[in-house]
Amino acid sequence: MNSDLASIETATDFDIRFPEAEAGHDQDAEWFEFTVEGERRRLKVHDYAALYDVPGLYEALVYETLACRSPDRVADLLVLAVSDGQRSMEDLRALDLGAGNGIVAERLAERGVSAAWGADLLPEAKSAAERDRPEAYDGYLVGDFTAFDDEDLAGLRAFDPNLLVVVAALGYGDIPPSVFAAAWNEIADDGLVAFTIKETFLSFEADRSGFAWLVHQLRDRRLLQVDARLRFRHRVSIGGEPLHYVAVVGRKFGAIPPELLETCNAMAIDEAADGDADSA
Ligand SMILES: C[S@@+](CC[C@H](N)C(=O)[O-])C[C@H]1O[C@@H](n2cnc3c(N)ncnc32)[C@H](O)[C@@H]1O
Repeated sequence: MNSDLASIETATDFDIRFPEAEAGHDQDAEWFEFTVEGERRRLKVHDYAALYDVPGLYEALVYETLACRSPDRVADLLVLAVSDGQRSMEDLRALDLGAGNGIVAERLAERGVSAAWGADLLPEAKSAAERDRPEAYDGYLVGDFTAFDDEDLAGLRAFDPNLLVVVAALGYGDIPPSVFAAAWNEIADDGLVAFTIKETFLSFEADRSGFAWLVHQLRDRRLLQVDARLRFRHRVSIGGEPLHYVAVVGRKFGAIPPELLETCNAMAIDEAADGDADSA
């Protein structure tokens, strides 16, 4: 077992197996088989709702078998960036976007972050966080962040987050730029931002997710100052190949203006149309 993950223990042996012939597939096509309560089942690695419904399966698959390091890497990079600034980890109140079942909040708490709210598209993620890590979050929003109204956001605004953290959840049909931007605008203007993203999603030549463009815009308009950046092995693929991500920690200097939000929203619509065409 990876020593970074010593505190993640799963009591159940799920007998996880991967298909050898399809080992070259992209991340969002990967699938696996496992056994639970005597039954052999098959799931996609990215089928989060079904994964979260089985206690311990997400940890066994993503953290033990595929050796995911992202929560520890981004939390360590945050510690490094904070140690060079005016703030302490204890001052940070996190909004964990794409929070899943709470591993990121747990890693941040281990490093001193005093409080966190979670947000995720899936009700199964919130249920799993409450089941597996009931102490992880002070509040948890479920749904599309771009669709939340003032009433939905009242509790989060009272919490007044000063750190946006997004780990292993940007792009790939998960969080689009529009959702990231909406969450960004709920963070205090002198707050911090910490996220991981597949390195090709930050490359202008390769990116179709819109994040390369958005991060460029944020830096160009002086809304984001990058304080620390690390290329690291996020996890291995089901074929054992390393998958590299980039962790970024920076400071937020202002809200994303309406015209930039509109472009993000338009990109999300284009992407959805692409997805419909792909699946047709
Ligand atoms: C790979 S999991 C990462 C979970 C957690 N951050 C971690 O590192 O363990 C990606 C998460 O992003 C969530 N997600 C996907 N699309 C989303 C969206 N549009 N808004 C919020 N969460 C989303 C998924 O439901 C899932 O819980």
